[in-house]
Amino acid sequence: MHRILRLSILLAGFLMAASCYAVSDPQPALTTEDDLGPQVQQPIEFPHYRHAGNRNTVDLTNSDPTKGGMEINCQYCHTYARRSLTAGIPPLQKCVGCHQNIPSVRDKPRIVELFKYWDAKKAIPWKKVHDLPDFVRFNHERHIKRFIEQQGRPVQEVCGYCHGQVKEMTTARRQKPISMGWCVSCHMKEHVVVAKGDIPEGGTPIGKQAYWYTFQKPAEKKNAAGELTAKGPNDCWLCHK
Ligand code: HEC
Ligand code: HEC
Ligand code: HEC
Ligand code: HEC
Ligand code: HEC
Repeated sequence: MHRILRLSILLAGFLMAASCYAVSDPQPALTTEDDLGPQVQQPIEFPHYRHAGNRNTVDLTNSDPTKGGMEINCQYCHTYARRSLTAGIPPLQKCVGCHQNIPSVRDKPRIVELFKYWDAKKAIPWKKVHDLPDFVRFNHERHIKRFIEQQGRPVQEVCGYCHGQVKEMTTARRQKPISMGWCVSCHMKEHVVVAKGDIPEGGTPIGKQAYWYTFQKPAEKKNAAGELTAKGPNDCWLCHK
């Protein structure tokens, strides 16, 4: 029954999907006043900007907590992005591991709250900000491998394609639409397959994946810089289980 239901939902979507391919604006405006996406109330207001934000290059002592962060790598906390479907939210141990050695903010209300969870041996019940429906398959690893490892682009830039400027936020907010038309429009762009010199022509197996996804091997295309390019996959079954 479940399968039939799923199938008919997918089939009903064919027509709709066809119109999605024509969507020209990949980022419809968000509806919040500051254009930052909806604010989710979290159990602790975690300051991303303070942990992952850029250092204050004017005041080198970095003493004003409202300006300048510590440039902690996104992947230090969201450890699984490069090797699994999900990026993951850091466990409480990770916060406490640091914060038990940081007396300067030990008495601040949010840190007191943090240690309450710790003493009670309870995980912090973070709420989801990005949440795709269950019938969509999304894989962080593939995208991270492609853009960060293979093409050597900066971590924050790559996370930013889909999450916006998290390093400037307090708790994360959904800044991109994360809709089907939005995913598809990026997959329709020509993405460089080989960027680093040490990867042989045609790319690593990952680089070649983009070809394997489709029934028809697309004609090899090169961009102005002479690099081999390929589109992301746009077959229904790759994004839908
Ligand atoms: C690149 C990934 C991707 C591809 C390819 C894709 N979809 Fe989707 N699809 C999504 C995402 C993401 C959503 C969830 C959108 C949301 O929650 O707003 C979705 C939602 C849907 C829905 C639910 C209705 C809706 O618009 O919310 C249907 C039906 C659907 N897709 C059918 C299809 C069909 C049929 C194809 C092939 C022609 C297809 N999809 C190809 C990513 C994709
Ligand atoms: C790598 C070390 C490190 C980790 C890991 C870390 N923090 Fe922090 N955190 C800091 C430092 C350093 C400060 C700023 C201290 C200052 O301003 O003097 C800070 C500041 C904060 C503040 C602001 C405190 C205030 O009110 O001024 C909160 C809230 C916070 N962290 C929560 C968390 C949570 C929740 C986690 C786990 C998800 C976490 N931190 C993980 C080092 C860390
Ligand atoms: C190609 C788009 C894309 C890129 C690039 C991307 N993400 Fe995501 N991320 C998503 C989507 C879509 C979801 C929602 C997944 C779901 O609901 O199943 C998500 C969910 C998350 C979550 C929530 C927990 C989870 O894993 O579902 C975190 C945390 C996260 N991303 C962090 C990151 C970080 C850090 C980076 C960079 C290293 C990154 N993402 C790169 C699209 C992306
Ligand atoms: C010190 C640990 C830490 C660092 C560093 C960090 N994050 Fe987070 N991140 C968290 C915590 C805790 C949450 C849950 C609270 C929230 O949603 O804001 C979170 C949530 C998120 C979410 C929303 C997840 C969801 O539910 O959809 C995204 C996206 C995200 N982070 C991306 C990033 C990016 C991009 C960077 C680097 C610029 C980064 N994070 C750096 C700890 C961290
Ligand atoms: C910034 C551009 C970009 C965005 C946004 C993006 N993708 Fe992709 N995606 C790619 C590229 C490029 C590949 C091919 C990666 C490779 O094989 O080297 C890919 C590959 C994939 C694959 C096949 C690899 C795998 O995981 O098995 C799926 C599925 C996928 N994307 C789903 C999605 C969904 C769902 C969304 C929206 C939530 C999305 N993508 C958003 C660029 C993007």
